[in-house]
Amino acid sequence: MALAEKDVETTGLVGWIDRRFPLTSTWKKHVSEYYAPKNFNFWYFFGSLALLVLVLQIVTGIFLVMNYKPDATLAFASVEYIMREVPWGWLIRYMHSTGASMFFVVVYLHMFRGLMYGSYRKPRELVWIFGCAIFLCLMAEAFFGYLLPWGQMSFWGAQVIVNLFSAIPFIGPDLSLWIRGDYVVSDVTLNRFFAFHVIAIPLVLIGLVVAHLVALHEVGSNNPDGIEIKAKKDANGIPIDGIPFHPYYSVHDFMGVCVFLFIFSAIIFFAPEMGGYFLEANNFVPANPLQTPPEIAPVWYFTAFYAMLRATTDPFKIVLMIVIALLGVLALLRARGKWRLGLPVLAIAVVVFMAVTESKFWGVVVMGTAVVSLFFLPWLDRSPVKSIRYRPLFHKVFYGIFVFAFLTLGYLGTRPPSPAATLIAQICALIYFAFFLGMPFWTTRGRFKQPPERVRFKSH
Ligand code: HEM
Repeated sequence: MALAEKDVETTGLVGWIDRRFPLTSTWKKHVSEYYAPKNFNFWYFFGSLALLVLVLQIVTGIFLVMNYKPDATLAFASVEYIMREVPWGWLIRYMHSTGASMFFVVVYLHMFRGLMYGSYRKPRELVWIFGCAIFLCLMAEAFFGYLLPWGQMSFWGAQVIVNLFSAIPFIGPDLSLWIRGDYVVSDVTLNRFFAFHVIAIPLVLIGLVVAHLVALHEVGSNNPDGIEIKAKKDANGIPIDGIPFHPYYSVHDFMGVCVFLFIFSAIIFFAPEMGGYFLEANNFVPANPLQTPPEIAPVWYFTAFYAMLRATTDPFKIVLMIVIALLGVLALLRARGKWRLGLPVLAIAVVVFMAVTESKFWGVVVMGTAVVSLFFLPWLDRSPVKSIRYRPLFHKVFYGIFVFAFLTLGYLGTRPPSPAATLIAQICALIYFAFFLGMPFWTTRGRFKQPPERVRFKSH
């Protein structure tokens, strides 16, 4: 189509651009005419806050890289140089380190909202899957970034985590050598982690965030009532319970941003180390490959998964084998078709394999499965309603127990191991997996309330 013929209402510079690039139409589709449910609540602040933190991390990261040296002999001193000599360097560094933790705070709350309101259910499965992939990338990004200051915790944390791969049967030792690029974490490792942290993962992350939002805008947002606003439209095809994202939610989200920045600033200016939770004391000591710190613990956002890893002891492996064998028996009794024999045979194969492999390897499997399980949520939850609001009381209790178990694991992962702590972590890990595995069964049970025809909304 010739440029002049293109159906464009705008004039001037914007009109000129619109005839060559979909500027106004994109703005309308995703902002000024994106109709979002009018009953968004507190929990809907965290998507835009995650976007804000992503931008903050990228911008502060760019400035840090200007003075950081990815070299094992210079890295630690270059971070100290940023903190002491570079004008405002301390602020940029604290914004970045605090931003890392706040990213996880915001994303965990964002995921919890999805869990509460069933936002992962049809037709938002892809929104959720992209979200889970973002979560994986975020974990990788934080892990790679943590090595860069080249402190004791950076070094030993990376050493412990990369060593975990060596527990994988057959290929493990070669795999961990390949990841490190050396026999111990070294300058080679630092260089490749730097490359992943500053370019590879951020690129993937940005791509996934774009895909996350495109998928969301294709199907439209869920809401605290878990009902589809697109089911009720006016004569112009606009959802009756929808309001344009701009100006309504742009202003709403701006308020969230202001409150968030107060909290963010308070941490940066008054407690940037957050009592050792955001920046660990041991990481202010230069990496020393000859001296293992008395305790190696990851930063708080990994501790729930780390606690599961530590909980997978030899006796716990036997418990897992019994659970898998029982699931095989259950499949034999209840499954239909080809699953009836297939699942029990698979269960036997897994149990035999577990018997001949180390529990350390199964710790890694447990930790990985804990994250991967999230991807399957859209198909595990079979409740007739999406939102927690209309589910039976016992569902709410199950959600509560699940969250409590996860938080307990998170706490235990920050503490030194003890027999009692290990037992509690094992119970919590079982609860975590029982929540997911049992979901197809318990989510269909109980008395559900009838969700309303229209969203529940009280104007202020
Ligand atoms: C960099 C990280 C992320 C960013 C920037 C981001 C951004 C957003 C934004 C802006 C929205 C729309 C506003 C809102 O509903 O709050 C949204 C919705 C959503 N996000 Fe994320 N997100 C991120 C990570 C995640 C993760 C890790 C998950 C889950 C595993 C997830 C799952 C969802 C779901 C299910 C929705 C739809 C919610 C609904 O309509 O009720 N997101 N996200």
